[in-house]
Amino acid sequence: MGIGVDMACVEFSANADSVDFIFSTNAQENIFHTGGNIIFLFCVLVYAVNFGRGSDYMSENILAVKNLCIAYGEKEILHDINFTVAQGKIFVILGKSGAGKSTILKAVAGILGTGKITGGQIFFNGKEITNLQGEERRKISGAGIGYIFQNATASFCPVRTIGAQIYESVQAHKNWSRAEFLTRAKNIIQNINLEESVLEKYPFQLSGGMGQRAGILAAMILEPQILLADEPTSALDPETQASVIEEFLKLRERYGVSIVMVTHNLKVANYIADEIFKLQNF
Ligand SMILES: Nc1ncnc2c1ncn2[C@@H]1O[C@H](COP(=O)(O)OP(=O)(O)OP(=O)(O)O)[C@@H](O)[C@H]1O
Ligand SMILES: [Mg+2]
Repeated sequence: MGIGVDMACVEFSANADSVDFIFSTNAQENIFHTGGNIIFLFCVLVYAVNFGRGSDYMSENILAVKNLCIAYGEKEILHDINFTVAQGKIFVILGKSGAGKSTILKAVAGILGTGKITGGQIFFNGKEITNLQGEERRKISGAGIGYIFQNATASFCPVRTIGAQIYESVQAHKNWSRAEFLTRAKNIIQNINLEESVLEKYPFQLSGGMGQRAGILAAMILEPQILLADEPTSALDPETQASVIEEFLKLRERYGVSIVMVTHNLKVANYIADEIFKLQNF
């Protein structure tokens, strides 16, 4: 449809450009041509808007999921899933409980566990990562793809401080000294409404909102290109939910990170999403 409009505009612009139109002295013709002029300007505008949109679509997608099928054992959970996520966009996956939302994120992150990709492909920055493992997978985990688990607080080890755990996960990817880690961590902490003392705390000492934000810190510390966030607000009270959602918008603005967020909350989806993908007739 976009192409149709663009072609019509090219036709209009060719007519309007004619010398006859510019030098006409006939009043009727002038009115006609004034109308033509307006149509021409309108078309230029439509063309410009479509061109702007077009450049969005043309820019390389950071993530592309094509015909993806996933099974746990013999049971196929997801069949023929297709979507793309453009650079810097917030893409929301909506679906009922059990629809397979977390499974999609896990497949992208390469942490499906007992699940198996039985068909289709996943591309990150144009490179196929469907069955990437070992060192190749480690290279894009964390630094390329960040992951915030469905229950972020529970994803931390209960007997070690948040700071120690995040520093350890960073060391698997970067050669940062503790001082460098602290500088970077504090920089993110300032931006997500946390206090530096969170680094010294144990998971059980965090409120729900703090736990989610600690999860955001852990995922953002390596400044990934895309952030996968699994129901980052579902366990929170409405006020904390709203403020955590704002943190995601700020992260996108500050770091240009693309975000794939899973939720079953339509209001959250409508508020934050550039695009919504509905699973199983949600
Ligand atoms: N490790 C597993 N082994 C077997 N079945 C699983 C496993 N993980 C998930 N499933 C099943 O796959 C389906 C999709 O699970 P998934 O966790 O992706 O759903 P979800 O959409 O994230 O649900 P929720 O909104 O409750 O988090 C469910 O039927 C679930 O029982
Ligand atoms: Mg889930």
